[in-house]
Amino acid sequence: MSTDTVTETGTTGTGTHTPVTPPTPTDRQALLLARRAGATPAYLYDRGELRAAVARVRAASVEGAGLYYSLKANPHPGVVNALAPLVDGFDVCSRAEMETALDSGTPPGRVLFTGPAKSRDEAAAALAAEVAVTVESLRQAALLARTAAELGIGGRAVIRLNTPYPARVPGGEPSPNQFGVDADDEARVVETLRAGGLSVSGLQMFWGSQYADPAVVHAARAAMTARALACVDRFALEVDFVSVGGGIAMPWCDADPDVDWAAMGTPLSALPDGAAALPLVCEYGRSLVGPAGSLLTTVLDTKTVGGLRHVLVDAGMNHVMIASRLVAGNGRGEVRVRAVGARPDAPTGPVRVTGPLCSQLDVLADGVLLPEVEPGDLLLFAGVGAYGPTFSPGGFLSRDPAREVVHGDV
Ligand SMILES: Cc1ncc(COP(=O)(O)O)c(C=O)c1O
Repeated sequence: MSTDTVTETGTTGTGTHTPVTPPTPTDRQALLLARRAGATPAYLYDRGELRAAVARVRAASVEGAGLYYSLKANPHPGVVNALAPLVDGFDVCSRAEMETALDSGTPPGRVLFTGPAKSRDEAAAALAAEVAVTVESLRQAALLARTAAELGIGGRAVIRLNTPYPARVPGGEPSPNQFGVDADDEARVVETLRAGGLSVSGLQMFWGSQYADPAVVHAARAAMTARALACVDRFALEVDFVSVGGGIAMPWCDADPDVDWAAMGTPLSALPDGAAALPLVCEYGRSLVGPAGSLLTTVLDTKTVGGLRHVLVDAGMNHVMIASRLVAGNGRGEVRVRAVGARPDAPTGPVRVTGPLCSQLDVLADGVLLPEVEPGDLLLFAGVGAYGPTFSPGGFLSRDPAREVVHGDV
């Protein structure tokens, strides 16, 4: 996963739509879950919200396409186990993510090992586990072929094609990126893989993250499908997997544009002729797990600095970097936060919520309205189930990680 994909701001919306505001946990649930976690900070992941997200995203995807979940957004085993029966497969980026996906009971044929530069050991682990492996360069194709030969086995290769990320508004400039095989190298990559006894069983055309404009999303899906059809034809490929990306935004800060979910679904009729014959797949991370996760944190102190009320909590950007000044606050507004157990009619005022780290960046919400709180009270950040612990600098100051609890009916 590139850092860009998390920090991209998605500055365009298409008007006002109903935002996805997770109704859970209620204050009562949050208090019980805090006791269950035993300590804060604690991430709470709601299985019911995961189910709701899968249904919402399927309806907003390409008609009939398979739906893969990318563990990079949240690799917690309980989350992956909850998603396993609901999705069609998993995209993994490391050996550890691969084992989590396989441990969920998902067959290797439905797991894809991705990433721009795999080591020899990663290539060997993926081939030995019989999962499909993406190839993003000529040298990576040769590495995969050599590793398969050393192991004395074949394997399934999926070629990731380099594709610029579309502009966020129709008509804008696409942005180039480092991922995938350059068009000039495609033929040699296919040749190298085939000569090494590997089957070229798929194509991956991931074209970016955090897109809120349905017109941009539909156009990208159509362009990727056309590209796949041309590539299948050119190399006479027999494919069982053609990813035409994901891209759907998940607003988690209050200035992020809402997603017009009803307008996001792409019917097959909007794709180029021949699309129906392709094994199309879309891959999503944030939109599947973001709304299902919240973070509970305990107030440690309060003080007034420069006339502004500060609330100091036990969660820091080492647990939730997406709320810090590096991501939220960086033009996106603030993550939604509330005081657990506050009276609904309690007067509120602007506060800055800061973490326990010695860094100016460790501000988790700035200028948000909260009621009076005391040390020991709980705050809850909502909609932070994606790119939480996995994307946060957990080693900073050698502090304890956040606890994680998966709750709700199995
Ligand atoms: C190849 C690939 N697939 C899927 C994803 C998940 O994207 P998102 O969380 O925006 O849905 C990413 C994100 O970086 C990616 O690089």
